[in-house]
Amino acid sequence: MQETVAMSANSDTLRQLVQQAIAEQPSATVTVLSSLLSVQDALGYIPKVALEEVATRSGTSVNDVWGVASFYPNFRFVPPARHSVEVCWGPTCHILGAQQLFQGLMGHLGLEGEGDTADGEFTLKLNTCLGSCPHGPVVSLEHQLAGHMTIDQLKAHLEELQVGAAQPKLNDASHRWDPSP
Ligand code: FES
Repeated sequence: MQETVAMSANSDTLRQLVQQAIAEQPSATVTVLSSLLSVQDALGYIPKVALEEVATRSGTSVNDVWGVASFYPNFRFVPPARHSVEVCWGPTCHILGAQQLFQGLMGHLGLEGEGDTADGEFTLKLNTCLGSCPHGPVVSLEHQLAGHMTIDQLKAHLEELQVGAAQPKLNDASHRWDPSP
């Protein structure tokens, strides 16, 4: 994700990043939705200029593109915080402690639900299932999965990110697993 670039980009650079994201979609079938997804994957959000670019590329109106974008709650329209934290909210992780984890995180980050911290450091989200149910409770930190997570371990990883680590150190065997079958 190029959100750091996107957050500081001037409007010409931002438009170029959007155009590149739309042009480089791997799917043979390009739709309004696939283009919006591609922009969000690349930038972490849908800037206003993306609505214009997707409309132009799709031969439709900005209003129609907005109609699609605003329908899906997973699209966001402001840049994300510097770091991403997602807590799995699926049934298995629920049984294994996701609720306590999320509540602990909200308290730690000063949030009352999903959202961005006031200092712009963390975006906290819930995810319906991160696809690694036996390792619950599972979180995604900077888009890396980690399992069997406790609130204390999670706080320590957030601190690593805050002091400048590009990725949390998830090499503890209790967090990481070999995803190959
Ligand atoms: S329920 Fe949490 S990873 Fe599936």
